[in-house]
Amino acid sequence: MCGIVGIVGNQPVAGRLVDALKRLEYRGYDSAGVATLKDGAMERRRAEGKLFNLEKLLSEKPLAGEIGIAHTRWATHGVPNEINAHPHFVDGVAVVHNGIIENFAALKTELMAEGAIFTSQTDTEVVAHLLARYRREGLDGKAAMLAMLNRVEGAYALLVMFADEPEKLYAARFGPPLAVGHGRGEMFLGSDAIALSPFTHEITYLVDGDCAILSRDTVEIVDFSGKPVSRQKQISQAAAFMVDKGNHRHFMEKEIYEQPEVISHALSHYVDLAGLTVKPADPAIDFANLRGLAISACGTAYLAGLVGKYWFERYARLPVEIDVASEFRYREMPLSKDQAALFISQSGETADTLASLRYCRQEGLAIGAVVNVRESTIGREADAIFPILAGPEIGVASTKAFTCQLAVMASLAVAAGKARGLITAVEEQEMVGHLAEMPRIMSKVLNAIQPQMENLSRELSRFKDVLYLGRGTSYPLALEGALKLKEISYIHAEGYAAGELKHGPIALIDENMPVIVIAPHDRFFEKTVSNMQEVAARGGRIIFITDETGAKAARLDTMATIVLPDVAEIIAPMVFSLPIQLLAYHTAVFMGTDVDQPRNLAKSVTVE
Ligand code: AGP
Repeated sequence: MCGIVGIVGNQPVAGRLVDALKRLEYRGYDSAGVATLKDGAMERRRAEGKLFNLEKLLSEKPLAGEIGIAHTRWATHGVPNEINAHPHFVDGVAVVHNGIIENFAALKTELMAEGAIFTSQTDTEVVAHLLARYRREGLDGKAAMLAMLNRVEGAYALLVMFADEPEKLYAARFGPPLAVGHGRGEMFLGSDAIALSPFTHEITYLVDGDCAILSRDTVEIVDFSGKPVSRQKQISQAAAFMVDKGNHRHFMEKEIYEQPEVISHALSHYVDLAGLTVKPADPAIDFANLRGLAISACGTAYLAGLVGKYWFERYARLPVEIDVASEFRYREMPLSKDQAALFISQSGETADTLASLRYCRQEGLAIGAVVNVRESTIGREADAIFPILAGPEIGVASTKAFTCQLAVMASLAVAAGKARGLITAVEEQEMVGHLAEMPRIMSKVLNAIQPQMENLSRELSRFKDVLYLGRGTSYPLALEGALKLKEISYIHAEGYAAGELKHGPIALIDENMPVIVIAPHDRFFEKTVSNMQEVAARGGRIIFITDETGAKAARLDTMATIVLPDVAEIIAPMVFSLPIQLLAYHTAVFMGTDVDQPRNLAKSVTVE
């Protein structure tokens, strides 16, 4: 994940900016840069690799100035090198950016037609050119920011400096986090409170749709239409060493809201967001010639694998044998060398998953590890590592790791389908295009459904039993929804394939057990609506999670209907994960359980 820092100060800033970047190193990066402004002249230093290289450059060629911005880059568009490192300069405009500008290709074409000269491969550079255009048209910094913010689409945190406005910094947030730090005669901006902790603990977290204008003594925050908004100032507990909760009550909530940001970084490892193509998978897993796949994992990671099974079978015509690792390791499954095995594990240390990997190793299969910790045991023992790049996941209940695992599985299924000649270039571009718009869609959904989820959780917390239903890739989501609810709220919950309702669970239906139905308007929709009618006819209370088309199509009395945007099938599991995560979270908060450390649970089960 990229890191952003800015200071409008009353003393030299270059060294302090780099120190602040060091506190963001945990986010991962591959290049860095800093820019300052003095006497109307902007200068920058940028370096590939670690901050040490930037510090060395600064010691050789120091930067003066009491206002500046700095950035650690996690490459999404364009290779990690000095040219692509931020800050990007265009005609007296300096920009640093975390996230993805989705419509950058169209904007770049428009700007180049006006004569703009691009020097990098990044999406960020279009922001600098847009701002330079609006400044040339006579808009001041604030007006130029608002004009730009109403043109760009995607998930982004931006920090901007204008050479002719040496007393101000401009920031905007839609997705990745951004916090204002209140100093004494200085103001600060950073990706989180940790970066700002050496300067101040008085923090104001920006929310999606905020544009902030900072001077040494003032902070003005407006929405993208220019209307003033007020945001609460709070005292952060962050210290330089810790991963903090930001402005959230629990790590789990923070990690739910981090998903748009971390998914954009996971995706950029597997797809080319500029050309909308999928990158070839690690050749250690020869998808083109495989006869089948074995997948094994535990808990939520297993459910990500179960979604992946649908995708590999549908898009790559690869038969998938999947089982929970505690069963897989003992089944002595007959396997052959023309199969490969994928092991999914956030921690990379789960004992059963590791044992299953070792079984496949002795059977001679090629082994892939879909992990959040590359240097973990499972990562180290695999032939190919497929990192999920979710960043540290502190909450025991897995959320951002789950959706990043899904994003990786979707990317690998498309890569496998392409390698097997089953996905055309047009289909590839369309599917990767849907993946690329996911961060923006997830940001919008999180903001849109939050109040409804909080209210609904109050009702849900009154019940002792809950049933989740889904079909197709919504079936593993039904299992995940049940797992999330039971593991943090301690309410008994069960997930079922909706088609299995009449084969037993329907006996449970009455007004005392809410039925949560997960049903995007896909090819199973009508069949799932029939199941809902069977539930309603027996006095069951339904919580219906669907999309706009589904909400219009189904005419049913429900306890609640949660309406998400219409999305492509390949991203529906990630988007529909959000309401089931938030419902479980708010129900647990309402019930007063220990959300981040639920009773009896460990973050990594390193024993059988
Ligand atoms: C999910 O919310 C749980 N924390 C648990 O099921 C977890 O997914 C499982 O223990 C697997 O852990 P791993 O991904 O680190 O292997």
